[in-house]
Amino acid sequence: MDSGDQRRANAHKESLMMKAYVLGAGLMIGAAFSPLTADADDASDGYLVYNDMCATCHGKDMMNPGLAFDLRKFPTDDKARFVTSVNKGKGTGMPPWEGKLSAEEIDLLWAYVKSGG
Ligand code: HEC
Repeated sequence: MDSGDQRRANAHKESLMMKAYVLGAGLMIGAAFSPLTADADDASDGYLVYNDMCATCHGKDMMNPGLAFDLRKFPTDDKARFVTSVNKGKGTGMPPWEGKLSAEEIDLLWAYVKSGG
């Protein structure tokens, strides 16, 4: 590793630490305000997770491109089925997310799906 590599590696480490810091601050702010607007906040946080993890197959903004289940039609009274399908996967196309998404992230996704997008 030359010194340029070292610098880049350090810069990368710092940017990761910065991200962790911003995330931590965001969570604290979120926690401080959540009693007032829990549902709306959760749905918009869930939207961010969704676009990262799910949109490639389920479509941007849940506009199902025809590859996967149309999540706008998911029964909004069946959280248990949602959590199981996300954790364990479904059929051959839907990957299991257990270990990749926390229970909190799945809760946020559920808030987003329930909101209808
Ligand atoms: C690689 C493509 C792919 C990704 C990424 C993906 N899904 Fe799926 N998903 C599918 C397919 C295909 C199905 C239909 C499975 C079936 O019924 O056989 C499905 C079905 C589902 C269902 C319906 C399951 C049921 O109970 O019928 C839910 C809920 C779901 N996905 C949620 C998500 C969430 C939330 C994410 C992001 C964390 C996600 N999916 C990411 C492909 C994907």
